[in-house]
Amino acid sequence: MTVEQTLSIIKPDGVQKNLIGEIVNRFEKAGLEIVAQRMMRLSTEQARGFYEVHKDRPFYGDLVSYMTSGPVVVQVLQGEDAIAENRRIMGATNPADADPGTIRADFAESIEENVVHGSDGPDTAETEIRFFFGDDGICPRTR
Ligand code: CMP
Repeated sequence: MTVEQTLSIIKPDGVQKNLIGEIVNRFEKAGLEIVAQRMMRLSTEQARGFYEVHKDRPFYGDLVSYMTSGPVVVQVLQGEDAIAENRRIMGATNPADADPGTIRADFAESIEENVVHGSDGPDTAETEIRFFFGDDGICPRTR
């Protein structure tokens, strides 16, 4: 077991549905700690850059429109196996495939509007955290 950090986004549909507290509560109840957090409205340039890995996928344009349609909450979760733990709590990308009791099974409308994002591995987590929080945007837990 390793202590990891991972990037989490509460997407525009999650914010619209007033689920910020509910989602954060699920992470905290699972033992994950928030070490950085910000509400922001992504620019088109930011959304395109963040999801650049998907730029050749047919859903890229719709994904950028969705992610810029309202405010998001970007946050860094820290804890034992935080990357896998966050993904377990979120559930599968497609809510139709998500395990019962996961965030996406409980709240997501579709594979397009799926309430939350989480980094999919250690390299992605590092890149995604840096994308939003730079080198010094994390607040280490001192107590
Ligand atoms: P996320 O985990 O943030 O990663 C890429 C996002 O693209 C995904 O969640 C969905 O919001 C969106 N998306 C839309 N269509 C698809 C698809 N067919 N497969 C994967 N992701 C999709």
